[in-house]
Amino acid sequence: MSLQENTREQWGSKLGFILAAAGSAIGLGNIWKFPYVVGDNGGAAFILVYLICTAVIGIPVLMAEILIGRTTQRNPVGAFRQLSGSKFWSAVGGMGVVAGFVILSYYAVVAGWAVGYIYEAASGKFFEFGEPSNAGHHFNSLIEDVWWIVGYFSFFMILTMGVVFSGVQKGIERGSKIMMPILFVLLIILMVRGLTLPGAGEGIAFLLTPDWSHISGQSILIALGQAFFTLSMGMGAMLTYGSYMSKKDSIPIASIQIVILDTSIALMAGVAIFAAVFATGLLPNAGPGLIFHTLPVVFTKMPGGFLFSIIFFILLSIAALTSSISLLEVITAYFVDEKGWKRHKAVIVFGILTFILGIPSALSFNILADVKIFSLTFFDFADFIAANILLPLGGFFIAIFVAKVWGFDKAISELKHGTGKLFNKNPWLLTAWKIFIRYFAPVSIFFVLLHSTGILDMIFKALSK
Ligand code: TRP
Repeated sequence: MSLQENTREQWGSKLGFILAAAGSAIGLGNIWKFPYVVGDNGGAAFILVYLICTAVIGIPVLMAEILIGRTTQRNPVGAFRQLSGSKFWSAVGGMGVVAGFVILSYYAVVAGWAVGYIYEAASGKFFEFGEPSNAGHHFNSLIEDVWWIVGYFSFFMILTMGVVFSGVQKGIERGSKIMMPILFVLLIILMVRGLTLPGAGEGIAFLLTPDWSHISGQSILIALGQAFFTLSMGMGAMLTYGSYMSKKDSIPIASIQIVILDTSIALMAGVAIFAAVFATGLLPNAGPGLIFHTLPVVFTKMPGGFLFSIIFFILLSIAALTSSISLLEVITAYFVDEKGWKRHKAVIVFGILTFILGIPSALSFNILADVKIFSLTFFDFADFIAANILLPLGGFFIAIFVAKVWGFDKAISELKHGTGKLFNKNPWLLTAWKIFIRYFAPVSIFFVLLHSTGILDMIFKALSK
């Protein structure tokens, strides 16, 4: 074991860890999902609820997850086993590894669309559309093409495998250090472009003027679910990244930095997209198709749109790649730590297996469109199981684990490493963390779970009868 400990990789620097973790957090969830969820749920009021969820549930649970990883220097399964010695908790870690496998399998399909759209943008196709419905038709015809969808999916998987193959420092950390600054710069360019369009103010007003009539129990739960997904929480990705962290670094500070980076990128993407959508007179509530149906047309109506459309899809692809590598890293770390596999073997075997698992998801938009599991296509089913069930369940268990199994005494003495005088000067921070982990997080996640499994809906219906 000591041999394994000595040879286990670590991040080269604190900044490397922050950028890699922020890279995991910032992904399709920020640039594709966040804007359309905000658009569908009425804008500013939803954003406020989302911000509260990230601060109150996101930060404490993220800290707990990173802490479990750093303390044990293990993958999710090994980490829970080491701290509890119980089979049940090892299985909770195992559930995370499985969730990572499932999420990656369909996430990489959508990421492939982003890569494919770099080509569509560069070939000038968008200028033939004229209106979103035409762009929508074009998009549908692309995803109905098995070769197109599977081709870009496999291309994206190869990119992901390439980065993870090269290791924690040489692959993930170096990749994040190159890609994250590019991502920031591209997003700032797009935001400035959006904001300087005549009529952009309306989009900003949409993001800033709360309309509380849109807020319901449902939208609060959607906000919380989004907070989980966007922070890569609940399946051990942050745990695994935390396991390469040094005890000299502060977990609370790192967590807050990651959350601030993730949130500001989501907001910036929202500003860039809504400024442009409103300025070109289109509608914000196009749902998941916002980026592939509405935006291509938006680009054709703005000066410089050709260039900006290429930039946008490059940005989206980079964001997806820094996230997908964190998903593959969880599976890799498990096989390296627990089964003694070589990293290269784990990456190749599980990269290929993820690709195979993802094929039915890719075919959900064409040949398998009519094959339904619980009335969902394979793609929607995978997304539902992973994002709506496994992640909240994982987050729930992480909170319960720290509060009840591991215990706050031990957890806090670990948490203190690297924090200097922070907690001596502000003891209330620890009290707050305990309250959030013990009560707020498990209770609110419990409601998210009831909601996503439809149980809450049934209760509401029964009560209103
Ligand atoms: N957070 C990423 C996004 O916003 C997706 C992601 C990467 C993820 N790793 C994860 C989500 C682990 C949940 C768990 O797109």
